[in-house]
Amino acid sequence: MTPLKYGPITLKNNLVAAPLAGISNRAYRVLCRRYGAGLAYVEMLKVESYLHHNRKTMTLKYYREDERPVGIQFAGNNPAWLAEACRMAEDEGYDTIDLNMGCPVPKIGKCGAGSALMAYPERAAKCMEAMVSAVKIPVTVKIRAGVNDNCLNFREIGRMAEQAGMVAITIHPRTRAQSFTGLANHQLTGELKAAVSIPVIASGDVKEPEDAVRVLRQSGCDGIMIGRGCWGRPWLFREIDEVLHYGRVVTETPGPIERLAVLREHFEMLLESFDPRHACQVVRRYATWYIKDIPGSAQFRHRMTKVESRNEFHEVLDDITAHFESVVGVPEDEYVGRRAALVST
Ligand SMILES: Cc1cc2nc3c(=O)[nH]c(=O)nc-3n(C[C@H](O)[C@H](O)[C@H](O)COP(=O)(O)O)c2cc1C
Repeated sequence: MTPLKYGPITLKNNLVAAPLAGISNRAYRVLCRRYGAGLAYVEMLKVESYLHHNRKTMTLKYYREDERPVGIQFAGNNPAWLAEACRMAEDEGYDTIDLNMGCPVPKIGKCGAGSALMAYPERAAKCMEAMVSAVKIPVTVKIRAGVNDNCLNFREIGRMAEQAGMVAITIHPRTRAQSFTGLANHQLTGELKAAVSIPVIASGDVKEPEDAVRVLRQSGCDGIMIGRGCWGRPWLFREIDEVLHYGRVVTETPGPIERLAVLREHFEMLLESFDPRHACQVVRRYATWYIKDIPGSAQFRHRMTKVESRNEFHEVLDDITAHFESVVGVPEDEYVGRRAALVST
């Protein structure tokens, strides 16, 4: 597959980790990138909060040099504010900026932003033009199929994006009215691809490497963005990449013990950005994704959703590891995934 190009930026492949509100923090992004994503985004930011240096926003927008290329995504509907936010984001060193026209949640929609902006194409065009002319770095947009079944205006918005100078467009081919119900209709992704000449990235329901291959082949799109499919298994990016290159997964899929080790690391990285209490609240969610397929882990899930401290978190993982090992057995010298290997106290 040809690597994705965002204007002057060439990614290492055509796989992008989705911007995910409440999820795509630094720890998440680092793991997605390590396991093969060509690009990752900080969590979506409301343009007003970004411009006002709102305290929560300061945490959300935090990234480090080792993440490059790193993208930022804004939700808003005011061209002047979006342009100002883009200038600030360029100064803060982000490599690319995305306009969110896909978010269906009321908090964003009631401000006329996210997927609600698709109901106002002329305003959307002004926002896109203002963003592109404000900065030198590449600007992209992420859209839905349309507002509802009677207003499938993705082609119109796609053409506007191209005309405005956006360098790529991502489509999550559900309507705003659908929110997350039903299935992403990637036939529409193909129709968008036929309507524009900038790269088109497909987002929606890619959960296995075969899904990625199917969507790429059927729609002719240029890249795949992954959201929920890689939760608790960031190596999905690597597996897709390998299937696209070699026709099969080459690197062995991490087993339970390695998965627990990655979860421990995920938590330790969360501690770099959040205070321990907050990190525990955040990790509870991620943890259930990592452990859900581990035989015998169900009995530990409840404890995991209540962890309050670093020690408690590692204790639960020790117990899961011990339980798993007692069931399947491990070689004497196998310490991967055990606390001793990762936590130096
Ligand atoms: C919890 C959650 C948060 C999301 N946050 C964002 C966001 O901040 N920006 C965005 O463009 N899309 C966001 N999305 C949508 C995803 O990026 C993606 O388009 C959608 O989930 C479909 O892809 P998937 O099936 O791979 O998850 C979010 C989705 C979920 C489930």
